[in-house]
Amino acid sequence: MNATATPLIDGFGRLHDNLRISVTDRCNIRCSYCMPEKDVHFIDRTEILSFEEIERFARIAVGLGVNKIRVTGGEPLVRKDLPVLLQKLRGIEGIRDIALTTNGVLLAEQAQALYDAGLRRLNVHLDTLDRERFRQITRRDELDRVLAGLDAAQRCGFGPIKINAVAVKGLVEPDVVPLARFGRERGFEIRYIEFMPLDAQGIWDRGRVLLADDILKLLADGIGPLEAVPDPDPRAPALEYRFADGRGAVGFIASVSRPFCLNCNRIRITSDGMLRYCLFALEETDVKSLLRGGASNEEIAAVVRRVVSAKWLGHEINSAKFVAPPRPMYAIGG
Ligand code: 5AD
Ligand code: SF4
Repeated sequence: MNATATPLIDGFGRLHDNLRISVTDRCNIRCSYCMPEKDVHFIDRTEILSFEEIERFARIAVGLGVNKIRVTGGEPLVRKDLPVLLQKLRGIEGIRDIALTTNGVLLAEQAQALYDAGLRRLNVHLDTLDRERFRQITRRDELDRVLAGLDAAQRCGFGPIKINAVAVKGLVEPDVVPLARFGRERGFEIRYIEFMPLDAQGIWDRGRVLLADDILKLLADGIGPLEAVPDPDPRAPALEYRFADGRGAVGFIASVSRPFCLNCNRIRITSDGMLRYCLFALEETDVKSLLRGGASNEEIAAVVRRVVSAKWLGHEINSAKFVAPPRPMYAIGG
């Protein structure tokens, strides 16, 4: 942050230093809790921010105190030359941490280039180790490539590598324990993410969320006792547990059963340049038009400040008032 800038603090006193950048809404698989099976409507390529536009926006955000960046999609590795963007982002003074969330399908091919671009932290999305179930959940037969991607990433030296598994009730119960075992053997932290109302087909319902407590019970019964890990960073959304035998840890993103909005430190920019103060926000602010329309960095910084200061207290998933945002997960960026 430059000396004159005040940090991004919203009306509830929350400091915003974490930017999530979606680089594409396209994806090479079709997870049922995210995308429709067919006729997916993708954003026109001309509407997608260029690497130069993303870098410029990131620099402006860093000037306002952002120091952590996560690159997401859609599936970010389908965006051509992604390592080039990562290198640009890494060159921004003031960034302390860059991470990438990927479904892993293209990871084996790209791991080395990503590593060489300076990336170290990876979250790989994987719900099951069973080929048939993978095909059922993602409507694509890509499990082998994801597993090869994990192998390649580990060989390159990435760390930590975390695995994101979406917790949908009635769907993933058989996979909870095998995934955790796999994580224990291979040194991956599994993060179970409670199913959120961001799917394209509107199938979400409270009753379809496999809650963190349900998963803890499955893990305790199937593997052994767990103990809560005291949170080193109270603003990190995951609840961490480790197995009492000392082998491995799991995390929960319990957006439904334990919302973490009070600690939120994030802003997001979609692949088409819309700034959002929340995954669930019903409004977004068009930064692309500013980037393309000759606005100065100061003008764009002022818009970021305005968006943060207008941020709501949090989503209301647990209330009857909740309204799902008009765009699904793949179009917003996870
Ligand atoms: N609910 C919760 N998590 C989801 N993801 C995708 N769709 C949903 C949903 N409806 C997760 C995926 C991906 C991350 C960016 O978001 O696990 O890794
Ligand atoms: Fe693709 Fe991720 Fe959505 Fe699955 S959850 S369809 S991997 S964007």
